[in-house]
Amino acid sequence: MPKRVGILTGGGDAPGLNAVIRAAALTATRVYGWEMMGVLEGFDGLYHGLPLIPLTEQNVRELLARGGTVLGAANRGSPFAHPVPLPDGTIRYDDVSHVAISRMKDMGLDALIVAGGDGTMAIAQKLVEMGARIVGVPKTIDNDLSLTDVTFGFETAINTATEALDRLQTTAESHHRVMVLEVMGRDAGWIALHAGVAGAADAILIPEIPFDIQIVCQKIQQIQLSGRHHSLIVVAEGAAPMGGKQSYTRRETGVRLGGMGHLVGELLAECAAAEVRVTVLGHVQRGGQPTPYDRWLATRFGSAVVHLVAQEKWGQMIALQGTRMVDVPMKAAMRLKRVDPAGETVRMARDLGIVFG
Ligand code: F6P
Repeated sequence: MPKRVGILTGGGDAPGLNAVIRAAALTATRVYGWEMMGVLEGFDGLYHGLPLIPLTEQNVRELLARGGTVLGAANRGSPFAHPVPLPDGTIRYDDVSHVAISRMKDMGLDALIVAGGDGTMAIAQKLVEMGARIVGVPKTIDNDLSLTDVTFGFETAINTATEALDRLQTTAESHHRVMVLEVMGRDAGWIALHAGVAGAADAILIPEIPFDIQIVCQKIQQIQLSGRHHSLIVVAEGAAPMGGKQSYTRRETGVRLGGMGHLVGELLAECAAAEVRVTVLGHVQRGGQPTPYDRWLATRFGSAVVHLVAQEKWGQMIALQGTRMVDVPMKAAMRLKRVDPAGETVRMARDLGIVFG
């Protein structure tokens, strides 16, 4: 039975991460009498052997409603591709996974809880295969992890995006404008779909349905003919036109999505006889306090994952299925969960008159 358990947060943050940390610490200390320790800066902190943070009942008291992660998260820190800058300015990527594992032993960690998305789960799974004692908590505002109905942070992001649409609607009406809102959603359009329906968008463009801009234009023209002179278009950052590509810039750390909202705005300005304005919501969706539902869900995940540690279910991830907490293999959970273009929710949105391009 473990006595000293570490917890780290990996990848991009999500509102509710601190609530996970708090619930895990309270459950571990109160139910099992273990010592719960925070690992700073994700897997990077493990590799570098950064000092552990004791997560006592006292230390986690203020965490429930706090956004971000107090432990920090190295967004692209992988012990399987650790960047080493070379004198000629290039970067070499080393596999330092064995160091990360031996650090766990040096730090006296009997087990590790990792909260993260598909990238973090993939790293954790590989470490488990090397013998590490790790369990997972699903985290992503994009809600695109398989085998869990929902991830915390998603509802907070939808709230933010819906509020943005509500605000855009009033100014769109005043100035008879087409308002384009770009929201997050790298490979999956869950935020765009949910916020688009909740915020009464006229068109929702998502990665799962390559769009034809003419269809969006026709929709705007129909709206104008009906006597309404403003409209709302939601674009997921990962959406792409039929036969075209996603909009991104290449960085040393990989590809950074963004720009599809502006592209859609330019195309609509050409084809619709209306003024178009574009808003990119960006990281506003990831910041701030979690909603009460996300605090509730994150707390359930954080507490339940500690029981997985007690059962020594290494390589398993906690998940919500229906109303129940279950555990699923990390390996299967990191598969992408995408919006079904032929599914009930897209059909419902189409029934309401929303177009997907
Ligand atoms: O995966 C969550 C996410 O919010 C994506 O929707 C988005 O593309 C990405 O993170 C942004 O990451 P970063 O914070 O590295 O810019």
